[in-house]
Amino acid sequence: MCGIVGYLGEKKATDVILSGLEKLEYRGYDSCGVSFFSNIDNQFITYKDKGRVKHLVEDFNYSLVNHLGIGHTRWATHGKPNQVNSHPHFSRSERFSIVHNGVIENYKELTAKYLPHMKFISETDTEIIANLIEHFTHDLSVEEAIRKTLSLIEGSYALLIIDTTTPHKLYAAKNKSPLLIGVGTDGITLASDVMALIGHAQYYYPIEDKTFTSVTKQANGKYTYELFDIIGKPVTFKLLKIDMVLDEIGKAGYSHFMLKEICEQPSVIRKIMSKYMENDTFFVSPSILSMFEGIDRVYIIAAGTSMHAGFVGKHLLENMPKIPCEVFIASEFAYNPPLLVDNPLFIFISQSGETADLRACLVNVKEQGYKTLTITNVATSTLAREADAYLEIYAGPEIAVASTKAYVGQIVILTILAYLLAPRKPFDLHLELSKVAVSMEAIIDKRDYIHELVKEKITKRNCFYIGRGIDYFTCLEAALKLKEISYIQTEGFAAGELKHGTIALIEEGVPVIAIISQSAINNNTRANIREVTARGANKLVISLENVSDVTDEIILMDVHQLLTPLVTVIPTQLIAFYSALDLNKDIDKPRNLAKSVTVE
Ligand code: M6R
Repeated sequence: MCGIVGYLGEKKATDVILSGLEKLEYRGYDSCGVSFFSNIDNQFITYKDKGRVKHLVEDFNYSLVNHLGIGHTRWATHGKPNQVNSHPHFSRSERFSIVHNGVIENYKELTAKYLPHMKFISETDTEIIANLIEHFTHDLSVEEAIRKTLSLIEGSYALLIIDTTTPHKLYAAKNKSPLLIGVGTDGITLASDVMALIGHAQYYYPIEDKTFTSVTKQANGKYTYELFDIIGKPVTFKLLKIDMVLDEIGKAGYSHFMLKEICEQPSVIRKIMSKYMENDTFFVSPSILSMFEGIDRVYIIAAGTSMHAGFVGKHLLENMPKIPCEVFIASEFAYNPPLLVDNPLFIFISQSGETADLRACLVNVKEQGYKTLTITNVATSTLAREADAYLEIYAGPEIAVASTKAYVGQIVILTILAYLLAPRKPFDLHLELSKVAVSMEAIIDKRDYIHELVKEKITKRNCFYIGRGIDYFTCLEAALKLKEISYIQTEGFAAGELKHGTIALIEEGVPVIAIISQSAINNNTRANIREVTARGANKLVISLENVSDVTDEIILMDVHQLLTPLVTVIPTQLIAFYSALDLNKDIDKPRNLAKSVTVE
C-alpha cells in the first residue's frame, strides 16, 4: 500500500508531487508528507502529518521555488498514523530523506547488527533504511551505500531517496512494491502508479525488482537516468508510451468515484466486447487458450472482491467447457496449499495486479514450474508481468476503494474465456452480453428508487444477503460491498444454511436481502425468505423478471442464466453506495482500507 511520488525537473516539484499524491491517495490515506529542496535558501523542507493530502496541500507553504522533492501517502503497517510515523523519514544527521512503500521484514535484525545503539524517532521499519545508507557512507560512495543497504534488506520496498548534499540527484529502488520511472520533456517523475505520471511524463518504465535508479540533472541542464541491478550492473530497458488521459481519472461530474464507476459498467461491458472481438467473433490469443490443453484443474487465486469474481468464474468454467476449478483465498493458499493435481493451471484475478497475497502464491507456483495466467485491470502490474500470460480487463482506472466495475470486468473476461474454451457454444455471447449491458442500464437509471428503498429498509447496524447457487456468490460480494463502505455488519449467506444457526440473529426489522436469478432455486429461496420474515426480518428481494413475484422490490430485466451475476450485483452496489451516503461515510476512501494491498 502507500503511494510515493518523486520529481526532479524544470517544473515546481511540489506541484507535481502533491497532485500525484492526490491521485495515489487510493493506495493509503492515513497520513502523508513531502520533502523538497528550496532553491531560494538551499534548504530541505519537510512537511508531514496525520490525515489527507488535502491538508498537506492547504496547511503548508509551497511558495518557494523548488525542483526536487519526494512525497508519500501512507497506509500504516508499523506504528500508528501520526506525524512522527509519517514519511518522509530522515537519517540521524538528516542527510538522507526517504519515502518507502512496503515492509522491511528484517529491520530489527539489521538494527541489532549495524546500529545497535541507534535511537529511532519513529516506530516505522523505514527509518532503518535511511540510517543504514548514512552508516555505510562513512566508507562508501552514496550509490555504493544505497546498494549495500539494498543487498541487506529483506522484504518489499519502493524507495525514493534524497541525499541533501546533492540536490541535483534523486535515487530510487524497488523490490516487490511497484515503482515506475516517468520520462517527460522537462524532467523525471517516479511514482507508484502511472496515474501520478500523467501530465508530467510521456513515457514510462515499470522498474524491475532489485533494481536501483539514479536520476541526475547534468551540468548542461539535461535530466538523465540510469538503472542498475543490485550489484551495479547497468540494466537495459524499453520505455512504454503513456496512453491514459487525465479525464479517465476524474469524477466526470459524479459526486463520488464509486457512483461514477457503478454507472460506467454498461460501457465497460461494451468496451471489453470490442477489445476481445476480431471480425465479429470473440478472440483470445491462441497461446492463452492452449494453456488449458491437457490440464486437470484450474486453481483460481484471488482476494476480496476478485475472489468473488473467481467463484463466478468457477461456475462458468465448470458449466461451459466443463473444466474442474477450485477457488482459493490467496493469503490461505500461500501458506496452506491444497494437494494439487498433476497438471494444474493457475489463474490469478486482481484488479490492481499488485496484491501481495497473490504475488506470494504466484512466485511459489512459478517456482514449481506450473502455468500461470493473470486477469487484471492493470496491464503494467507486477502480476501481469510475472505470470506466463495475462488478460486485461479494460475497465479503465478504478479509483474508489470499493471495487465495482473491475469485478464486472473480471466476470466478463472469465465468461469470454469459458465461452471460447467450450466445445459447443451455449448461446450467442455478443447478443447476451449486449442484453446484460441494457439490463444494467435499466437498473442504474432507477437508482433514485434504490436510494428510497435503502432509506426504508437499511435501518439497522446489521444486514444479511441470502441466495443459492450462483446468487450466493453475489451475496458474498454484496455483503462485502455494504460492510466495506457503510460499516454495517453484513453477512452473505447460502439461503438454505441460515436455519442451521445464523437465523438466531434475525430479529424485528433486520434487513434480509434475497437474490433470486435462477428458476431451479426460486421456490427454495422464497421459502427461506418466509422463514426470516416470520421472525421479523425486513425483506428486500432482488429478482430477474422470469423468476419474479409481484411483491419483489427490485426486478431486473432478464439475461442468460449463466450471466445473471453481472446484473444482480448492480443493485447491491447501489444499496451499498446509498447506505454509506445516508450514514455520511467517506465512500471512496473507507476507514482502515487501501485500494491496492501490497503487504501480506
Ligand atoms: O486489486 P485486487 O483485485 O487484487 O484486490 C483484492 C481485494 O483487496 C479487493 O478486491 C477488495 O476486496 C476490494 N476493496 C473490495 O471492494
